[in-house]
Amino acid sequence: MTVRLVLLGAPGSGKGTQGKRLADHFGIAHISTGDLIRDQIARGTAFGLKVEEGIAAGNFVSDNDIVNLVSERLSEPDATGYVLDGFPRDVAQAVIFEQDFEEASGGLRTIELSVTPETVLERLAGRLVCPQCDAVYHETYCPPKTTGRCDNDGSDLVRRPDDEPVAILHRLDIYEQVTLPLRAFYAERSLLDTIPAEDDPDVVFRRILEVVTHKSVI
Ligand code: AP5
Ligand code: MG
Repeated sequence: MTVRLVLLGAPGSGKGTQGKRLADHFGIAHISTGDLIRDQIARGTAFGLKVEEGIAAGNFVSDNDIVNLVSERLSEPDATGYVLDGFPRDVAQAVIFEQDFEEASGGLRTIELSVTPETVLERLAGRLVCPQCDAVYHETYCPPKTTGRCDNDGSDLVRRPDDEPVAILHRLDIYEQVTLPLRAFYAERSLLDTIPAEDDPDVVFRRILEVVTHKSVI
């Protein structure tokens, strides 16, 4: 069974948290466009330097740039099955993915994680991330074993620059205007399942698995 998933959802809905679990469970690649961009910023590449300020403010990068990043990652040998987290993020990207990546996007299912804006604010206010391995924690809901340290590699955990309140509100605004139309795009193709994602991560994970194991087989 090759599993190919797109996770849709607001900032803080749990795409990264569930994406990692799904990738481990199915032995597929977790492709987070946010992580790919932050890696470029951390390495100080020309692209990273170009987008650093805009990303901290909560802005998108261009469709062209993101398609190039995703295309490169999908061409790696481990990416036959994947969970895409953060792409497609607008209808233009979804059309490109459907038309120009016909083979790589075959058998796709889209899972939307549904949470309220209040939950987003609470989750992002307490999020901590590992700059080395991209592990995601929350001060209250998913705390690391040792305060401030990554369970995997002991690195100092940090806050993301785009988790400042002004940037969060901006990201939510863009999500509603630009990303939400993807719901109709995938629903029209009968490729969308919406999962209530307010509950504990284990509960949300089980709900996703139920949907995926019943429907995502190519
Ligand atoms: P990206 O990194 O994708 O950011 P995002 O979509 O805003 O989503 P987040 O990573 O903030 O949240 P998440 O849904 O992954 O939640 P998480 O699991 O961390 O993208 C960053 C930026 O890059 C974008 O703003 C954009 O500028 C740019 N970009 C990316 N892709 C692009 C594209 N395709 N085109 C153009 N630009 C692009 O969880 C959040 C917190 O909640 C954590 O602390 C976690 O521990 C906790 N938590 C998770 N689940 C639960 C739960 N069930 N209960 C309690 N707590 C939970
Ligand atoms: Mg994420």
